[in-house]
Amino acid sequence: MNSIKHNKFSLEKYFKKNKEIIDKALDKYLPEDSIYPESIHKAMRYSIFAGGKRLRAILVIAGCQIFSPEEIKNALPVACAVEMIHTYSLIHDDLPCIDNDDLRRGKPTSHKVFGEATAVLTGDALLTHAFLLMSKRKNIKPEITAQVIEIISKAISTYGMIGGQIVDIETSGIKTDAKTLKYIHNHKTADLIEACVYAGAFLGGADSKQLKYISEYGRNIGLAFQIVDDILDIEGDTKLLGKSAGSDIINKKNTYPSLFGIKKSRQLSNKLINNAILKAKKFGQRGQILELLANFIRDRKF
Ligand code: IPE
Ligand code: IPE
Ligand code: MG
Ligand code: MG
Ligand code: MG
Repeated sequence: MNSIKHNKFSLEKYFKKNKEIIDKALDKYLPEDSIYPESIHKAMRYSIFAGGKRLRAILVIAGCQIFSPEEIKNALPVACAVEMIHTYSLIHDDLPCIDNDDLRRGKPTSHKVFGEATAVLTGDALLTHAFLLMSKRKNIKPEITAQVIEIISKAISTYGMIGGQIVDIETSGIKTDAKTLKYIHNHKTADLIEACVYAGAFLGGADSKQLKYISEYGRNIGLAFQIVDDILDIEGDTKLLGKSAGSDIINKKNTYPSLFGIKKSRQLSNKLINNAILKAKKFGQRGQILELLANFIRDRKF
């Protein structure tokens, strides 16, 4: 964990504790790799357990805990589902026909290990398994489950993540404008991040005013997250990142640094983080974890 000035100890502890809980649950929810057809189950587990910060899953849990500290059990399957969805998006993002990257989470990418056809199906499988997991809920009212599925599916649909990804691909090599770049980043990354903290808060019982603040918090950290990702692609260290730095330049991607320069990109992401913190403060002491997570997103080195 890179150094966090504010409450370093407690945020690290929070990440470590929740990562353990999430990983244990992921192990339980994913098909065993001894189950036929073993190859796909092995590939699903390979990418999920290759590493990763588990930030999106942690946002589901954090969002829920603000309103219901005891309800984490209900949030856990959704936390695992978003991690499966996120991992699917990374497997596909790394494919030769998209970003053509060889390293992810410090390990060779799925297509490098299992071949392209298996990598495509592994992404599909993780996405499908996430919905299977979210739909199989015994202790939750069916209308709550349906609403969570709606929140997550909209965020990763063509109105969300896929919309951002397709414009990201189509504009590669062509200098784009600030409006299109914002569209790409808001959709390819911020939508899912926002949906995670929103779904968590919804499961925790937040009311509509509280959900509005949570949503604004999520949008701000989500866009900041991708701007920082763009900066790290230039300034970051491949070993620390666990993915190849310089990928955006090779792929001629439109990024915040390519359009505005590093300094302005940093200023912009800092401003977004400050906006997010203002929203987190609406929840007083209970919102402190959201503030720490926002600081983490600003300061991260991986
Ligand atoms: C990488 O996300 C993809 C982006 C949206 C920039 P993360 O940086 O959260 O990746 P992991 O889960 O920690 O590997
Ligand atoms: C990824 O954006 C967004 C996704 C939805 C997968 P990037 O292409 O910048 O992510 P990294 O840098 O490969 O992790
Ligand atoms: Mg990409
Ligand atoms: Mg990429
Ligand atoms: Mg990137």
